[in-house]
Amino acid sequence: MNNNTPTTGFNRSALIQSAIDSLKFSYAPYSHFNVAAAVLTGSGKVYTGVNVENASYPAGICAERNAIFHAAASGERELVAIAIVGGADGQITDYCPPCGICRQVMREFCNPEQMRVIIAKSTDDYKEMTLAQLLPESFGPDNIV
Ligand code: THU
Repeated sequence: MNNNTPTTGFNRSALIQSAIDSLKFSYAPYSHFNVAAAVLTGSGKVYTGVNVENASYPAGICAERNAIFHAAASGERELVAIAIVGGADGQITDYCPPCGICRQVMREFCNPEQMRVIIAKSTDDYKEMTLAQLLPESFGPDNIV
């Protein structure tokens, strides 16, 4: 799979369920807002992440970046899709869109026109967008050469 590979054929339900299963690991004692993400890579593997807060507030990290760095630290360099769930006190009552910094981190490892971002309330209640829709006219690796 490469950056031109159409990414419509993956199992959305399984990816969302991976995020839901990870939500219990979120560490958010300060905001009490729990988030989990599951990223599907070009190799077909899924990597999860949760938000991990810190007593020094800015030292914490979002779930999406944690999942993407988890994948990158395992050698992955291509993202196909990411599923995100979250809510106050671990209750998924609404969609949880990715913050701007996380959108930029996604940009590093994908084709934004192909990369799918899924924000979910459950395995069958979700919204799906491309990263290009969420981060138009983005700055990426090709801009810095
Ligand atoms: N958070 C995420 O994990 N992902 C997002 O995209 C939005 C915010 C986390 C950061 C912090 O731990 C908590 O949610 C409240 O902002």
